[in-house]
Amino acid sequence: MRPAWALLGLCCLIWRVTGGPSGDFCSQIHNSGVKPGFPKTIKTNDPGVLRAARHTVERFNNCSNDIFLFKESHVNSAMVQVRAPVQVGAPVQIVKGLKYMLDLEIGRTMCKKTRHPSLDKCDFQTNHTLKQTFGCYSEVWVIPWLHEIDVPVLHCH
Ligand SMILES: *[C@@H]1O[C@H](CO)[C@@H](O)[C@H](O)[C@H]1NC(C)=O
Ligand SMILES: *[C@@H]1O[C@H](CO)[C@@H](O)[C@H](O)[C@H]1NC(C)=O
Repeated sequence: MRPAWALLGLCCLIWRVTGGPSGDFCSQIHNSGVKPGFPKTIKTNDPGVLRAARHTVERFNNCSNDIFLFKESHVNSAMVQVRAPVQVGAPVQIVKGLKYMLDLEIGRTMCKKTRHPSLDKCDFQTNHTLKQTFGCYSEVWVIPWLHEIDVPVLHCH
């Protein structure tokens, strides 16, 4: 237990030094029972990982010029990290966030973007000319309580 408290102490010290919120903020962190953690490996079929993979392709599709939608085909590895508590809204709430780090493959489907189909119904391309896969690394930041999701990092090659 002691190292965790030491870490929280350090966090508050930094807030103090940088002129952050007052002591009340620190006691809220203690009460929340949420500590920032190190990234942990998580099963690739974990529901949270699958949702993060889907958000990754949604972001990819939103950014690509391809006429077809891409879909996640395989998650090679996944890690999750409990993020430092963040303050949200007024009155201020301290909420626990999760950051997923995914190494996954995505492939071109037969669904055209313009038809706005549900990805669940989209099969991968079978035509050899059109088949394409990318390996991607993404970071997906989730605040489960607020249903907030962001994909701040996405690299595909
Ligand atoms: C998709 O892109 C549009 C315009 O670039 C943006 O406003 C929207 O938030 C994006 N949606 C997602 C889910 O990334
Ligand atoms: C595969 O796609 C290419 C490009 O759209 C098309 O010209 C070709 O006829 C397709 N082949 C088959 C077997 O559908």
